[in-house]
Amino acid sequence: MPAIVVVGANWGDEGKGKVIDFLAEEVDVVVRYCGGHNAGHTVKNPLGTFAMHLIPCGIFNPNALNIIGNGVAVSPEAFVKELRMVQAAGISTDGRLFISDRAHLIMPYHKLLDGLNEKGFGDNAIGTTGQGIGPVYTDKAARLGMRVGDLVDTAAFAERLRFVLEQKNRLLTRVYDLEPIDFATLLAQCMEARDHLLPFIADTGAMVRQSLAQGKRVMLEGAQGTLLDIDEGTYPYVTSSSTSAGGAAIGAGIPPTHITKALGVFKAYTTRVGAGPLPTELLDATGEQMRDRGQEFGTTTGRPRRCGWFDAVAGRFSVEVNGFTGGALVRLDVLDAFPVVKGCSGYRLNGKVVEDFPSHVGDLDRCEPIYEEMPGWQSSTENARHFDDLPPAAQAYVRRLEELLGCPFDVIGVGATREQTIHVRPVL
Ligand code: GDP
Ligand code: IMO
Ligand code: MG
Repeated sequence: MPAIVVVGANWGDEGKGKVIDFLAEEVDVVVRYCGGHNAGHTVKNPLGTFAMHLIPCGIFNPNALNIIGNGVAVSPEAFVKELRMVQAAGISTDGRLFISDRAHLIMPYHKLLDGLNEKGFGDNAIGTTGQGIGPVYTDKAARLGMRVGDLVDTAAFAERLRFVLEQKNRLLTRVYDLEPIDFATLLAQCMEARDHLLPFIADTGAMVRQSLAQGKRVMLEGAQGTLLDIDEGTYPYVTSSSTSAGGAAIGAGIPPTHITKALGVFKAYTTRVGAGPLPTELLDATGEQMRDRGQEFGTTTGRPRRCGWFDAVAGRFSVEVNGFTGGALVRLDVLDAFPVVKGCSGYRLNGKVVEDFPSHVGDLDRCEPIYEEMPGWQSSTENARHFDDLPPAAQAYVRRLEELLGCPFDVIGVGATREQTIHVRPVL
């Protein structure tokens, strides 16, 4: 069976968790392929409400194998906390949750350095989640990382940690004028983490490849969003991993040729947390109303999300980069109250109309959105279960967005729960 990848089409928090949770009911394997516990995927299903950070949202299907892939950065503390949360809800993880031995470990100094970097950046701060994401992927690229699989051999782990910590302590003491981190204390902390992680460590790439060979259905779970991708996103206001569809094969350890479907998760309007350009941002009462109605506060940090109208220029870019074979348009219900709804179909930049998403943040900062205004529907869509149940104005809005994006919506979300979903076309 081929694999499907589910990707955030915008700046994260699109509603991937909800979409993955209900799609996971029909898949055999779910693999998280990027990011770390900077992600916060909300799932509301008959088992409860869950904020998932690391464990794939397929964990709620008792028959699905769940894998934290090699492209993920793993904080042992965050993992253990989440594991306890899931187990407390009566969900068994025995034999169906694994962490790649190739995944990198988020160490305490990564979190420390994330904070120090942000402070040092001053006005240029990225507005990170502060979880050590930038520094852990920096170390991965610098060949200074500690991997989950390193924990297996304790003697070799200690030796490697001693070397790595020497490098880190040089930085902490000489650049930041801080006390060095004590090796013995850190090693003890890591050994405690080892006890928790050991039963889950595996060569997960091999497991996923075998599942594919056996004809099993595999879903690759994205985190963050395309516009936060280290290459494709609004650099430098991005995260530090490859969040778009191209990163899924690498982060799961499978050949790209196995991924034949890509589902883009779009919000019916736009949000962003942290710094960086957001052309359709609304700094007025309408933006406030979106935040209030959508309860737009970060799942991981609780920060208020910046809100604005749907940006089809950014969306089109996302469709092209990821090769979306279909989309999920979620949170349509949040727009139920608005007398007029708008979609940005182009930008005005230096007096010219631009329809392509600029690669440089300086240009993007100067872009002014060109809007198409459409009548709102001002009635509840929360109980719609078929496309025809939607008010005509809502149907027209959805259809227009599809045209602007050049991508059909297979799924429409009209509420946070699993059943508040319109299945327009089969996704899998
Ligand atoms: P993710 O990071 O992409 O998984 O998204 P988050 O979980 O951070 O944020 C999405 C929020 O929207 C969560 O609070 C979800 O419960 C909620 N949500 C998802 N789909 C819908 C929808 O169709 N309507 C509404 N009102 N809320 C939704
Ligand atoms: P999910 O998976 C929204 C943002 C941060 C910041 C930038 C870099 O829930 O959609 P980082 O801590 O990764 O170095 O921060 O990326 N960011 C997210 N925004 N949703 C996320 O994940 C995010 N993960 C990181 O706010 O702007
Ligand atoms: Mg989120």
